[in-house]
Amino acid sequence: MRAIDQTSSHHSVQGPLQHGRARRRVMALLAALFTAPAWASLLRTPAMTEGPFYPVELPLDQDNDLTRVAGKTGVASGDAFDFAGRVLDASGAPVAGAVVEIWQCNAFGAYHHPGDGGRLDPHFQGWGKTTTDAQGRYRFRTIRPVAYSGRLPHIHYKVKRAGKPEFTSQVMIDGEAGNERDFVFRHLRDAEARKRVLMTLARAPKESGAVWRTEYEIVVG
Ligand SMILES: [Fe+2]
Repeated sequence: MRAIDQTSSHHSVQGPLQHGRARRRVMALLAALFTAPAWASLLRTPAMTEGPFYPVELPLDQDNDLTRVAGKTGVASGDAFDFAGRVLDASGAPVAGAVVEIWQCNAFGAYHHPGDGGRLDPHFQGWGKTTTDAQGRYRFRTIRPVAYSGRLPHIHYKVKRAGKPEFTSQVMIDGEAGNERDFVFRHLRDAEARKRVLMTLARAPKESGAVWRTEYEIVVG
């Protein structure tokens, strides 16, 4: 706005030619303000397969803390992990009110799913959901994902918005040795698209009660 005001204030001391130029400059500035410039468009997060282990039956406890199950006193095995971030649209604007669901295997590499025969963890919720706030933020307490046969560590997720198609993808750990061998990840050829499905882990502050944390942005169309 300041740029436009400055230009306008010069009108009175300019002749018709300069006035025309100034006007064009104002129009160009207005166009820049009201048109999303190309550089502001974010690369969308690529969709990835839902996989075979989306819950057949959702757990009774459906909150955003997967490390505790209602009615039980124990805590899930594994490293407590604060999985948080924002959901944005391609213009970079936060997406408020979106339902984010996550699911992943437990610390023993088994999904809480009848199709997976591994060892269960009675204290791991396996699946959870939350709704993004006005800033597009979501937050889960879960465990740091672990590898299982054929797959490197990953968290599955869905983003559900009113009037939009459901978005399903997965997020893996940036820098995890062997990601290249993962049979889902290796189908993503584009380096920039790969960055969108990788989260950077950092040590969580001691007082948080978690071991690891991340801020992961999901860019939906
Ligand atoms: Fe999986």
